[in-house]
Amino acid sequence: MSNVISTQIPIHQKFGGVVPEIASRKHIVNIMPVIDEAVSKAGIKLEEINQIAVTYGPGLVGALLVGVSAAKALSFALKIPLIAVNHLQGHIFANFLSEPTLEPPFLALVVSGGHSAIIRQKNYNDFELLGQTRDDAAGEAFDKIARVMNLPYPGGPEIDKLAKIGNPDAIEFPRPKVSDFDFSFSGLKSAVLNFLNTAEMKGEKINPADVAASFQKAVIDSLVDKTVSAAEKFNLKKIVLAGGVAANSSLESTLRKICTEKNFEFFYPSKILCTDNAAMIACRGYYQSLEKNFATNNLNAVPNLGIL
Ligand code: KG4
Ligand code: ZN
Repeated sequence: MSNVISTQIPIHQKFGGVVPEIASRKHIVNIMPVIDEAVSKAGIKLEEINQIAVTYGPGLVGALLVGVSAAKALSFALKIPLIAVNHLQGHIFANFLSEPTLEPPFLALVVSGGHSAIIRQKNYNDFELLGQTRDDAAGEAFDKIARVMNLPYPGGPEIDKLAKIGNPDAIEFPRPKVSDFDFSFSGLKSAVLNFLNTAEMKGEKINPADVAASFQKAVIDSLVDKTVSAAEKFNLKKIVLAGGVAANSSLESTLRKICTEKNFEFFYPSKILCTDNAAMIACRGYYQSLEKNFATNNLNAVPNLGIL
């Protein structure tokens, strides 16, 4: 009915990344105006809400606590059930909002600032973790490389933009070799850093667009290869992309192309539903409520919550 997003990107941009203390303070300032706006845009009264879902992790503890406290207060005051949602599961469920015909089972590739994982979604409330990153998340790698290339925060969209005018085959960056469906991006990150440092020491000019395109291709190759082989191994016919990095245009087009070639159905949330938002949390919460999976008023934030 409404999906209000209050972004702090311009505030953190001048620091080159999220400053946790500032993020918590801004959450306190923004939470009530956002709730008021969401309720008024939906054209309802607060009293008409009959359940409240909130993300309790993973994420920054100070920011999570603000949301959890507000949701607990509303649940208590309105005498309505509270639903504790895992933020990463929320990312997957953004796809049900973009494409209402989507039904499990499917394979989900979840790529965000803090996580990269391959999930087998067996049913609405039944997930299996097939693989995840052993070190840096995909989004983290994008942000770190952008930072050393003096691009503004958040780096993912900047690399995406720059890569469009670069040659993805200009530089041969290594493809991580990890078993099964796990990922690793720290070796690739070091290789790009070494490339940039060596060029600087030798006084050689680099083409930033080629670096961005070649780095991005290395990340995407590994994400796409593992996703497609997992879908093949588990005989799943649908592939779902989720998380902030899903907003990457080349990841989306590469995965879409291979899905067409190999006869997988491909699902992808609209850009606004890719990055963090409340609608996806409400959607995940809805399916939890069908199972009466409610939280108590002792709910706490869990910053390092796993995907399952
Ligand atoms: O899911 P999200 O909004 O927040 C977390 O839960 O982390 O993801 C944010 C991440 C950041 O690392 C950001 O750089 C990355 O998603 N991102 C992108 C793009 N848009 C956002 N990465 C690559 N290409 C993009 N277009
Ligand atoms: Zn997220």
